[in-house]
Amino acid sequence: MEKEQKIYILAIESSCDDTSAAVMCNDVVLSNVTAGQAVHEQYGGVVPELASRAHELNIVPVVDAALKNAGVGKEQLNAIAFTRGPGLMGSLLVGVSFAKGLAASLGIPMIEVNHLQGHIMAHFIQKQGEQKNVPQFPFLCLMVSGGNSQIVKVNSYKDMEIVGQTIDDAAGEAMDKCAKVMGLGYPGGPIIDRLARQGNNQAYNFSKPRVPGFDYSFSGLKTSLLYTLRKLVADDPNYVERHKEDIAASFERAVVEILMDKLYKATKQLKIKRVALSGGVSANTALRAAYHDHAKRYGWDIFIPEFGFTTDNAAMIGIVGYYKYLDNDFCSMDAPAFSRTIL
Ligand code: KG4
Repeated sequence: MEKEQKIYILAIESSCDDTSAAVMCNDVVLSNVTAGQAVHEQYGGVVPELASRAHELNIVPVVDAALKNAGVGKEQLNAIAFTRGPGLMGSLLVGVSFAKGLAASLGIPMIEVNHLQGHIMAHFIQKQGEQKNVPQFPFLCLMVSGGNSQIVKVNSYKDMEIVGQTIDDAAGEAMDKCAKVMGLGYPGGPIIDRLARQGNNQAYNFSKPRVPGFDYSFSGLKTSLLYTLRKLVADDPNYVERHKEDIAASFERAVVEILMDKLYKATKQLKIKRVALSGGVSANTALRAAYHDHAKRYGWDIFIPEFGFTTDNAAMIGIVGYYKYLDNDFCSMDAPAFSRTIL
């Protein structure tokens, strides 16, 4: 397949609580429309049944807006790429069923995409009129989201190896749980980030995990926070409110140090200095600063996606779809959604 040929792909992402559709022309994103779901805020986390219902309501207008914003008609589409998993089963089923129905009605092929691969491949999305510098293979990618924390060695568009991963909570989940323990809102990551900017990150020393190899663990850190606060709140019920900036900054420092320590060790052992960052937590200010600091100190060539492509979005599914299209890597109508997987 010649790259000059124009391939139009509609991509659909519905793995958790964001309904997103994008239209790609080759590796260039023409539109990327996402509807979030405020309904979960009052529960302090995503409620799966409510998420599926909201996807049902959002999917048609979101796809419609993506096509309109791109100025592309349904009849111009060459294929439909969709997130097959991992994610919440009810949420995935909405996107998967919609993709199947539309592909069948248009008589075009379908491309299944692994959500985690999408987060990593977000580095290859180009914008109209721009030629962004993309990572050369192989590179290491720290993939940190609400459901996953992994160090992945990316050998090619489709050959990825997990070098290390969390054995319990994900980094984003840890941030969200910290915010919950402190009585803040959801999702907690951006709130912790905002508070941490005004706090002293050396105020508390939360205990760090001792996990062999390049694997991560965040559940001990969460327990350490819980026990520390329990003692302090027993003496002063307003303690958290009065010290929330310092608590957030210290917790965030611990998460970033845990993430960067293993990543640094992986770069040393695997002798790879091209290091990318992906997933929702890559929006975090302290983590981004740590990347820049390591780049300066150790000569890393770093790749940090722009904010719009860090959290769940369909353009990252579309870019994987494009490379799979070039390989004629299509899936059949009976490909089911899957809730858990490894790359
Ligand atoms: O990749 P993502 O949008 O969804 C998943 O696929 O999980 O990641 C969402 C996670 C949430 O845990 C959220 O709290 C976290 O990313 N997050 C952040 C920030 N922005 C989002 N964590 C720390 N700092 C941020 N600025």
